Amino acid sequence: MARILTGIQASGKPHLGNILGAILPAVELSKNEKNESFLFIADLHSMTTVKDAQQLTENTQAVAAAWLACGFDTEKNYFYRQSRLAGYHTELMWYLNCLTPYPMLANAHSFKDKSDKLADVNAGLFTYPVLQAADIVLYQAEYVPVGKDQKQHLEMSKDIAAAFNRTYGDAFVLPEPKIDETVMTIPGIDGQKMSKSYGNYIDIFLPEKQLYKVIKKIVTDTTPLEEPKNPDTCNVFALYNLMASEEQVKEMRQNYEGGNYGYGHAKKALHELILEKFAKQRELYNYYMENLDELEAKLQEGERKAELIAKQTMETVRKLLGFIS
Ligand code: TRP
Repeated sequence: MARILTGIQASGKPHLGNILGAILPAVELSKNEKNESFLFIADLHSMTTVKDAQQLTENTQAVAAAWLACGFDTEKNYFYRQSRLAGYHTELMWYLNCLTPYPMLANAHSFKDKSDKLADVNAGLFTYPVLQAADIVLYQAEYVPVGKDQKQHLEMSKDIAAAFNRTYGDAFVLPEPKIDETVMTIPGIDGQKMSKSYGNYIDIFLPEKQLYKVIKKIVTDTTPLEEPKNPDTCNVFALYNLMASEEQVKEMRQNYEGGNYGYGHAKKALHELILEKFAKQRELYNYYMENLDELEAKLQEGERKAELIAKQTMETVRKLLGFIS
C-alpha cells in the first residue's frame, strides 16, 4: 500500500490544462487498489496571494467540485481542506520552522520568482515551503505527485523532515516526489502553456455557447480555407490530438492536409469533442455547484478521517519534543 498525497491551491477554477495534466492522472493513481490517496485544498497556501475571503471560498468550491466531477472517490481516499485542519498543519509548521535554515528558504526559486514579480512580498510567501513540508509529513505520505515546478519544494520537505528525525528521533516517513516527466504541456488558446496567469485557458465547465466563444479565440495562422494546412503547427489540432481517439485524429489530419477544411471547421470539431468527452464531468460539476451542501458534507467527512491521522502524528511529535510525556 502506498500513501500518496497532493495539495492543490485554491487559486481559481480548474481548466483543461489542470484537468488533463494533473487531475485525471491523480484520479487514475487513486483508483489503484494498492494506493491510498490524500488530496487536499491548500487554501492556507492560497492566502499568500488571494486576499479576498469570498473569492477563496468560491475557488475552494470550484476546485472541490472539479475533483469530484473527475471521479475522485472520497470514500476510498482522503479529501479535505487544509484550513479545516489548520491547528495541526500550522502547529507542525512552527516546529519545522525552527529546524529550517534561513538560507534554504532564501534560496528557493519560487520565492525569488514571486518576490520579483509580486507587489505583496509577505512572510507567508517566504515560509510557504515549510507549510508544504508540514502538509506532507503530517500524513506520513510516501509519494507526492507534483509538477516539475515543485521539485525544489519537495527536496526541501524531505530535508526538513530528515532534520526533525535526526534531531528528535524518527517521527516522519521521508517523502519522495513523483514527477511525471512524460506529462505533456497543454497549449493554451495562444499556443503558450495553458495557465491561469496567462489568461489563455479553456474552462471546460462553461455553458456550451460560452465554451464555443473561447474555442473560437484559439490563435491560428491565416492560410485560406481552400489550401492544405499543417496540423503539426496548429493549436486547434494540438488540443484535439490530446483528447480525440486515434481514428478521429487521423481523420482530422487528412482534413487539414486535404484542403477545403478551415480552422472554423476544426474549432467546431474541437468544441463537440470537449462536450462529448467531458459530458459526465460537466454534469457532475454543475450538480455539485448547485448542491453545495453535498460538497460540504463530503469535505467534512474527509476532514474527520484526515484528522484521525493528523492527531496520531502530532502525538508522536509532541512527545519527541518533550511537550508531553
Ligand atoms: N505548492 C503546491 C502548488 O502550488 C501546492 C501544495 C501545497 C502542495 N501543499 C502541498 C503540493 C503538499 C503537494 C504537497 O502546486
